[in-house]
Amino acid sequence: MNFKKIASALLALGIFTISQTVFAQDEIDKKVDSVLSKMTLAEKVGQMNQYNGDWEATGPVTKDVGNKLDEIKQGRVGAVLNIMGSAHTKMFQDAAMQSRMKIPLLFGQDVIHGYRITFPIPLAEAASWDPDAIERAERIAATEASASGINWTFAPMVDIARDPRWGRVMEGSGEDPYLGSLIAAARVRGFQGRGLGSIDAVMACAKHFAAYGAAVGGRDYNSVDMSLHQLWEVYLPPFKAAEEAGAATFMNSFNDLNGTPATGNKYLQRDVLKGKWNFKGFVVSDWGSIGEMIPHGYAKDNAEAALFAVTAGNDMDMESRSYIGNLEKLVNDGKVPMSMVDESVKRILRKKFEMGLFDDPYRFINASREKSMLNRPESREEAREIARKSVVLLKNDKQLLPLSRQLKTVALIGPLAKAKKEQKGFWSLDIDPNEDIQSVMEAMEKAAPMTKFLYSYGCNIDDQTKSGFADAVETAKKADVVVMAMGEAPDMTGEAKSKANIHLPGVQEDLIKAVVETGKPVVVLLMAGRPMIFNWTADNAQSILYTWWLGSLGGGAIADVLYGDYNPSGKLPITFPRTEGQIPIYYNHFNTGRPGVSDKDVFYKSAYIDLPNSPRYAFGYGLSYTTFQYTDDDAFYSKAQIKDNETLKISLTIKNTGQYAGEETVQLYIRDLVSQPLRPVKELKDFKKVFLQPGESKKVTFTIDRNMLYFYNDNLEYVTQPGDFQVMIGSASDDIRLHRTFELTN
Ligand code: BGC
Repeated sequence: MNFKKIASALLALGIFTISQTVFAQDEIDKKVDSVLSKMTLAEKVGQMNQYNGDWEATGPVTKDVGNKLDEIKQGRVGAVLNIMGSAHTKMFQDAAMQSRMKIPLLFGQDVIHGYRITFPIPLAEAASWDPDAIERAERIAATEASASGINWTFAPMVDIARDPRWGRVMEGSGEDPYLGSLIAAARVRGFQGRGLGSIDAVMACAKHFAAYGAAVGGRDYNSVDMSLHQLWEVYLPPFKAAEEAGAATFMNSFNDLNGTPATGNKYLQRDVLKGKWNFKGFVVSDWGSIGEMIPHGYAKDNAEAALFAVTAGNDMDMESRSYIGNLEKLVNDGKVPMSMVDESVKRILRKKFEMGLFDDPYRFINASREKSMLNRPESREEAREIARKSVVLLKNDKQLLPLSRQLKTVALIGPLAKAKKEQKGFWSLDIDPNEDIQSVMEAMEKAAPMTKFLYSYGCNIDDQTKSGFADAVETAKKADVVVMAMGEAPDMTGEAKSKANIHLPGVQEDLIKAVVETGKPVVVLLMAGRPMIFNWTADNAQSILYTWWLGSLGGGAIADVLYGDYNPSGKLPITFPRTEGQIPIYYNHFNTGRPGVSDKDVFYKSAYIDLPNSPRYAFGYGLSYTTFQYTDDDAFYSKAQIKDNETLKISLTIKNTGQYAGEETVQLYIRDLVSQPLRPVKELKDFKKVFLQPGESKKVTFTIDRNMLYFYNDNLEYVTQPGDFQVMIGSASDDIRLHRTFELTN
């Protein structure tokens, strides 16, 4: 047996994945060329065309598509989206197998935070600061989705977002490029598992390329206007990380970037992604975004939009029909070279080969596998675990939490106390009507069987009615402790869900006031897809847990935290403003020439006369039921130096000084003290998680090396610059416990 035969045998046994085989890429390229050589131009354009199935998700379904199955049989479709379940996907793949070339379809789907089991929304998961747990979550999502016939997810969304008004802030990892990059790579690894070609891998799609999260005013789809320096420093790093982790596809975005729609943006797609980064996968448009270049005022009609998109490097058209309607003619008229179409089709076919679809178009379509892989108990356990890790303790005066199971009476108050499906949040598509989801109330009743639970609805999420207040107050008075479940409706964040007012909606904060005024101890649970504003509550409620939307296992996870079965360890991945007028507000800003040290410095404070500079809660903030003491291990404070590839180690000891076992996330920030161009006042560069029993201490050592000090200079070259740096280690971006300086010499 020669080497290739052995490799093929191992591949068949599932020991090798297709992309791991040494010979695979060459072989695949040959096969791609062979298929391409037999295709007509119309069939090539068909591969670049993607249709929605029969289900309306996030955009208007094109009305004049006729019978999509017929079009598939004619070879006019390369991929579909939103076809769920093995029976349904089989029907569509059967149609593709009736086409002349029998090229299998790709089945795409927005598997954003879980497929059948819903995991916490991505922003919540980011609060875990636990890329390994996030990778495991995506592994489960991919295993479930691939068992249902899906082979491509439109995730991860890796857009940096500094504006909580933007509805899609829920889909990303928050404001920080470093944390965002780690999580982007983890998600790609989770989705693609052992590599494309393994039966439980789905292709990842890093989106939305690029800078969609910086839409002016937080208004969805809006323009983005930013320096290339900011683009490279803040918005591109998570995309680069996703590409390096092997993301099979990229999706461009609805916004324009500095006057050019991202979909028609050659700089982004051809020069940066396919050029500088040498990306080998393919780029899909966002839903209808090729056609949307017409209302943008960039293209005069669909033909021009198709011309601009393909020229800019957009390989596949999602749902705008611009390619299918115009590309053939554009090639025949000599406006688009055939080589450009060939290049796009090769990229698409290569992925289909890598996925093993040419070997077996039905390999992801298997009803019995679907039945056995969905909703597995061990996967639900994993979902509960990451949900617990995503909760952020914002306040806990007089150690009200954790609650005792001996409490006689607890009142559950608020519009979300009995919420079930709602906990899944936006982008939970594969809803199973029979899924067993516990409300917070049910989960607490189960967790503390000795306690009597009272309930009052109190008010609606978002109207002005206060008729339920009296009952809520009376109910509170009868209890030892009150737990209030408040927040946004799950569809108040997500696509096209930007808000100008991000205060806790309706009269909910008035209800909290009325209940707190009873003098009873009050724990407030805040469920939302974005940072909200709730100043009165922040000042007056005794304890606050920010629970976001935690998914299918949210109720149980919240009960675990409330009763101390899990000590909260989440840290905010995004800054919480005091009011909308502070937005955008983020920790890694530049200093002005008048930074000021105190809010009393009238001329040197550089923000507003009616607000402090600081946010309500800073990036990296999050409490625990225990306390952690930071002690500098190294009494020697002289300035260290690093040159060439030397490293610098900084050690400290973290001690659990409280009564509960718990986990601290020790954060390391660096500032380049003098730089041209400017560098931020601090940038997260590393963090370590330390789990400690009460009274236990552990030494934590960080290693600083030159890699952490690179930045883009005025010519957008990635460089280091000699000089002095400050290292800040702490428990949050505004709670620095240890400062050091060092010098980088050349
Ligand atoms: C969204 C994408 C999504 C696509 C398909 C668009 O409206 O912007 O993120 O993947 O729809 O559902």
